Amino acid sequence: MENKIKDLMQRIEAMKASNEQEIEELRVRLLGKKGEVTALFEEFRTVPPEMKKLFGQKLNGLKTAAQAKIEELKNSVGKQVSSSSKTDLTMPGVPYLTGSRHPISITRNEIISIFSKSGYSVVEGPEIEDDWHVFGALNFPPEHPARDMQDTFFVTSGDNPVLLRTHTSSVQVRAMEKLPLPIRIICPGRVFRNEAISARAHCIFHQVEGLYIDEGVSFADMKQAILLFAQEMFGKDAKIRMRPSYFPFTEPSAEVDVSCNICKGKGCNICKGTGWLEIMGCGMVDPNVLEASGIDSRKYSGFAFGMGVERIAMLKWQVKDLREYFENDLRFLSEFETAI
Ligand code: PHE
Repeated sequence: MENKIKDLMQRIEAMKASNEQEIEELRVRLLGKKGEVTALFEEFRTVPPEMKKLFGQKLNGLKTAAQAKIEELKNSVGKQVSSSSKTDLTMPGVPYLTGSRHPISITRNEIISIFSKSGYSVVEGPEIEDDWHVFGALNFPPEHPARDMQDTFFVTSGDNPVLLRTHTSSVQVRAMEKLPLPIRIICPGRVFRNEAISARAHCIFHQVEGLYIDEGVSFADMKQAILLFAQEMFGKDAKIRMRPSYFPFTEPSAEVDVSCNICKGKGCNICKGTGWLEIMGCGMVDPNVLEASGIDSRKYSGFAFGMGVERIAMLKWQVKDLREYFENDLRFLSEFETAI
């Protein structure tokens, strides 16, 4: 028995295997039910009692060596697999996602850059405002619906409540209060209205509003400024038309339409068959508004306009559902990767 143990020990030490199947075969041959080590344990029963201690130790040593050998072979084969057959160096690399600008940022930047070329500078102001800068100074009568909780998010109540601005005209009021004349500014920013969220409305959206105040500014100047903008934004052939409208802070006021850039004015489902798309509101600054900010309305006049960035972006890229701008779905956002 001693020789058998010795012989098997030597063979175990010399054993080699090149894959997992061979290792499993070795394990069965040594430690399986009919394996060589198992057979020696059977034989051990016949060993005379006085020799049991000696052979018992040797046999256990043999079994441990067999198990250790199997583990060692498994480890070395595992390593070979991970360093050779599992790594395919010819595979293309994982693409690196660089991200892209949000369509709202792209559109806002484009609006800013168009007006910058005409000498407008960018002014920003607080999103949490008071009633005076959002409504009072802009000639909103006390009973105007915008002052209702249904339309505006109020933070506090009282005489001059704090609220979330509903338009960036509030920034224009702040500019009129402190900037020297003439003023030629655009005010981009987020605005808030208490609206139910749908494909066409959201409680948060973005505006760019503009203001020009100087001596002798006329409605014709406004029309020219807006036409230039429309042509830069929607193409050289873009035409505009103005429809009479009403805003408390401008008089006269107008709604501006641009000729539909999809059907070129013939009528399609985007322009609902009219050939025109509404893009902004505008008007001559009401003398009451100038006076409320300390500007002499007999000497100065001016015009203001305001547009929704989401709306301009929707028209430019034919986005049908406004909510897509806020969901951050990469499939939507990546469509704008090449836009700028
Ligand atoms: N402030 C108006 C709005 O939010 C837009 C506007 C600005 C209209 C300036 C006319 C002149 O709807």
